[in-house]
Amino acid sequence: MKIAVIHGPNLRLLGQREPEVYGRSTLDEINRDLHGLAAELGIELEVFQSNHEGKILDYLEEVRERVQGVLINPAGLTHTSVSLRDGLAGIGLPVVEVHLSNPAAREEFRTVSFVAPVSVGTVAGFGKNSYLFGLRGLCTRIRQQLNEP
Ligand code: DQA
Repeated sequence: MKIAVIHGPNLRLLGQREPEVYGRSTLDEINRDLHGLAAELGIELEVFQSNHEGKILDYLEEVRERVQGVLINPAGLTHTSVSLRDGLAGIGLPVVEVHLSNPAAREEFRTVSFVAPVSVGTVAGFGKNSYLFGLRGLCTRIRQQLNEP
């Protein structure tokens, strides 16, 4: 099983960017922990980050042939992007949305997610563990689907 992990805009700055909100883990550390968990779960990951909405949409289009699910932190695009919502819906793969912070407990504009309605589930508010919990959940969901007759 292979899963695409997508990090949206501004997440390359993790560790330095508003650490009181997003924690002190860097993106490299998060990716390292995700790869460690993937090894434990016996799955493969393909990791992608972009600050550009269109690049994420292009990536979704091409990666859909070689993965069975998508773990995504859409970052700011969560609250703005119909195109990302449509792209995720269009690939026909299970999607799990993750956030380091809990957007529902922050500014009003962050309470809207265009991605949540096309996701299997959302994990938010647990710092880098949101990614790890999300990966476990997504992996379980895919395995359940594969075992269904
Ligand atoms: C975020 C939450 C978003 O509201 C914000 O725009 C981000 C990061 C998070 O991981 O907590 O860039 O997705």
